[in-house]
Amino acid sequence: MPEVLIQTKPPATSSTGKAMISSARIARRVRRLGRQISVAYADIQTPLVMLVILKGATVFAADLLRSLSVPAELEFVRAASYGAGTASSGRVRLAHMVEGTFANRHVLLVEDIVDSGRTAEAVAKRVMQTKPASLRLAALLDRPARRVVNVKIDFRGFVIPDRFVIGYGLDYAGLYRELPDIHSLG
Ligand code: IMP
Ligand code: MG
Repeated sequence: MPEVLIQTKPPATSSTGKAMISSARIARRVRRLGRQISVAYADIQTPLVMLVILKGATVFAADLLRSLSVPAELEFVRAASYGAGTASSGRVRLAHMVEGTFANRHVLLVEDIVDSGRTAEAVAKRVMQTKPASLRLAALLDRPARRVVNVKIDFRGFVIPDRFVIGYGLDYAGLYRELPDIHSLG
């Protein structure tokens, strides 16, 4: 059997070749977000439910979870745009979400990046149908330049310029999620 080699060499990053956001900066910011979230939910009677939007937010969520000082459960939802070229159609398909789990629960959506805002909006709408006690959004990155729908980000890591980014869970064509820093693709 031949050995299959998969090229996952980092692509050319920013023009300076440096990371846009270093892993050390990310770690500091995520710890602070964890403290803020823990304060915000200090008095709730049931464990917080972190609803992680697959796949990009998994790395952020894993670090955020470990920076909380309040009990939290983990749930996941897969969100994908319908078919090809549907970014403009605004239709988001949701899958794998455990239905009926959120009634009277405090739900924190966890997203890697809010771009158009459609993904966060679609998930939030679905969760609201199940009558949660509260619903808030934590997003590591906010790229306001491409916003189409108005979403409130309650806990936000960094605001970034209008560049596509990879690393720390964010992918390009499924790759580069393993990079510890966040890089811009040109
Ligand atoms: P929105 O629905 O337009 O807000 O898009 C959000 C989703 O698109 C995120 O959950 C990401 O998975 C993906 N996405 C948007 N921008 C980027 C990026 O710069 N790098 C990697 N993924 C991105
Ligand atoms: Mg995503």
